[in-house]
Amino acid sequence: MNESIGMCASIGMLAPRSALKDYVISGCKEVVRENPVVLALQRKSYDRAQYKLYAAQRAYVATNFIRLLKKGQGLAFEFGDVELAGVLQSNLNDEQGIGPDGQYDHALSHLNWKIDYLRALGLEADVPEFPLLPGTQRHVEAFLALEREGTLFSISGALLSLENIIPLEYRAASWSRDHLFPEIFNLGEADTPQVQQEKIRARKYMDDHIIHDAKYHFPLLLRALEKYEGNADLMREIHCGIDLVNHYRKQFYADLHVAMQLAASDMHFYTFGGAMPPQLAASGMGGGIGPFV
Ligand SMILES: [Fe+2]
Ligand SMILES: [Fe+2]
Repeated sequence: MNESIGMCASIGMLAPRSALKDYVISGCKEVVRENPVVLALQRKSYDRAQYKLYAAQRAYVATNFIRLLKKGQGLAFEFGDVELAGVLQSNLNDEQGIGPDGQYDHALSHLNWKIDYLRALGLEADVPEFPLLPGTQRHVEAFLALEREGTLFSISGALLSLENIIPLEYRAASWSRDHLFPEIFNLGEADTPQVQQEKIRARKYMDDHIIHDAKYHFPLLLRALEKYEGNADLMREIHCGIDLVNHYRKQFYADLHVAMQLAASDMHFYTFGGAMPPQLAASGMGGGIGPFV
C-alpha cells in the first residue's frame, strides 16, 4: 500500500453529530490560515516572479481532480447513495463545463479557465515534463495513489477538504494577483471591449472558485457526508481523506516557501521549464511530470 494511503490507517476517532465540519475547518486552519505562503499572498509581499512560481506549481497539485470526482461518483452510485452520487456528478459537470441543459460549453470548462489564467501570466505549465518541486511532485503522487486505492469515503473526504481550502487560498492569492499584475487582471475604464473580455477570462478561474466552492461544492458535499457521522468506520475513512489532503498540501506549501527564497534563475526553472540550473541538477531536485492535462 502506498505511504499516503497507509498513513490513513492510524487516523480516526468517532465524531459526534455535526463534528465533521469542525474537523474540516480545524484541519484547514493549519493548512491555509497559518501557512506562510498563503499569508504572504494575502499580505501581497511576493514579487511577480514569486507569484508566478506559486501559480505554476499550484497548477499541478490536483491534476487528476476530475478523475477523482468521476471515481467518487461511480463508487457512490454503486454504494447506493443517490445524494452523494448526485453532488459529485454536479461537481463533475461544473468542472467539465457541462451546463444545466446537459450540453458541453467550452466557456464553462474549469480546465479552460485554468489555462486562460496561466497563459495570461505567461506560463506554459502544459509543456511536457514541466519541472515540479519535490513537494508538488509528492502531492501529485499522493493524489494518483488516492485515485488508485482510495475508497468512496476517503476520496469524498479528500474532495471535501479541497473544496474548503480552495476558496480560502484563492481569495488570498487573488489579492496578490491583482496587486502584482493589474494590467493583466484589473478592468480599467480605458480598456477596449476586447481587452476587458480578455481580463474577465483571465480572472474567471480564480474568481469563480472563490465563490462557487464556498457556496455550493463545499456545503453540498458536507451535507451529503454528515449523515454518516454515526458510523465510526466510514467517518474514519472520511477523516483519512481529509488528513491526506492536508498533509500533502502542507508539504507542498513548505517546499514552495523554501523555493521562494531561491535565486531568480532557479525560480525561473520551476516556472517556465528549460535548462536546469547546475546547482539544482547537483542537488537532485527538479522532477518533471507531464502533460499538464
Ligand atoms: Fe473547479
Ligand atoms: Fe469546486
